[in-house]
Amino acid sequence: MTAPTAHADPAYACADEACLDGVELSALARRVGTPCHVYSASAIRQRIEAPQKALHGLDARICYAAKANSNVAILQLMAEAGLGADIVSGGELWCCLHAGIPADRIVFSGVGKTAEEIADALDAGVARFNVESADELQLLQRVAAERNVIARASARINPDVDALTHAKISTGKSENKFGVSIDEARDWFTNGTALTHVQLDGLHVHIGSQMLSLDPIRAALRRVSEFWRELAAAGHTIRSIDVGGGLGVCYRAGHDHPVSIDDYADAIREALAGYDGRILLEPGRWLVAEAGVLLTRVIRIKRGQQRQFLILDAAMTELIRPSLYDAWHDMVPLVDKSRPLQTYDVVGPVCETGDTFARDRTMPECKAGDLVMIKGTGAYGASMASTYNSRPLAAEVLLDQGRYAVVRRRQTLEEMVAGEQAAHDWEAT
Ligand code: LLP
Repeated sequence: MTAPTAHADPAYACADEACLDGVELSALARRVGTPCHVYSASAIRQRIEAPQKALHGLDARICYAAKANSNVAILQLMAEAGLGADIVSGGELWCCLHAGIPADRIVFSGVGKTAEEIADALDAGVARFNVESADELQLLQRVAAERNVIARASARINPDVDALTHAKISTGKSENKFGVSIDEARDWFTNGTALTHVQLDGLHVHIGSQMLSLDPIRAALRRVSEFWRELAAAGHTIRSIDVGGGLGVCYRAGHDHPVSIDDYADAIREALAGYDGRILLEPGRWLVAEAGVLLTRVIRIKRGQQRQFLILDAAMTELIRPSLYDAWHDMVPLVDKSRPLQTYDVVGPVCETGDTFARDRTMPECKAGDLVMIKGTGAYGASMASTYNSRPLAAEVLLDQGRYAVVRRRQTLEEMVAGEQAAHDWEAT
């Protein structure tokens, strides 16, 4: 077996598509097997630096949305760069702490925080809770009082703004489960003195994901900024404004036109002009999506009665975005580009018609055994994986300037069923 070659040019985006972060992908696939998720550390570091530069001069902190990719090696890259994290579960709290992200850089979002999760987060010393309902606020007060600590909290505002993205990843319309209206939040601040163990001194907004227009972002920021000015005028100190995540990336070259990070930073500067507290950002996808590819091999070509299917060894179990959101991902067969073009429905082996990566996709003709790279899979790929159809979780690999490290080994069948057992020990409750 040949070792992946280290190329002289360590740039993560080699001119040759067969190479990522200085590593030859075909050699890597032979080594690690397919399907496998591959991430470029250099590309992620570049992404981390860009908003840090664009936000220069502001008291801004980036809290990486761990849900985008919570592999420990990815979280460690964030920790090394001094980033915090946005978490939505006790599991994410554990993963972030385990990866070395300091608790005081972690913010806790989500509509369904349980008493146990809140207790664990308080014990760990997280920076702040993004509170999404009056019930949660009361629970936070109770759990903090039991521990005799003061919990810092921000009200998550639902500004009723359409993020102009897929309905399943829109979060800022009044019909969505997230956040509370400005009217409700106003009541929280007015009656906040009754909260003996919660310091309610922040605002949070996150209206959706994969946003490719600045307009909804500006609209949401405007609402939050007006509300902050109103609260400040009423004598409330707002120490933190969290502008959420949601910046879109390019999944389809020549078609998706992401907002530039400088324009995004300018929109924040403009909306929050005069604000002297801390600004938090929670990007997930933008930091990791385009740094990742899914390597998969063609199992076979099947001529159906009506359509021609390219059957890959990756499936909705490794990348569910096309099945769930009809998402487009560019795909590149790592084959000789001079092959004639063919049009395929690109599918996985899972027993559902929904296990389809693309319909009518035109690409160089493929043969069994060819390697195909599915692009833009660094976010919400592995983190949304499942073992459906008893398919073990795929391997994940981090590349860094010509070297690679397996950061999740391919799950064995034993690992896949670990925890399951035959029903021997029947018990009465
Ligand atoms: N902050 C909060 C409170 C969130 O709910 C999310 C994402 C983020 C930040 C990060 O958003 P991002 O910068 O990654 O867009 N599975 C879907 C995306 C769901 C996003 C959920 N919340 C997908 O594959 O498109």
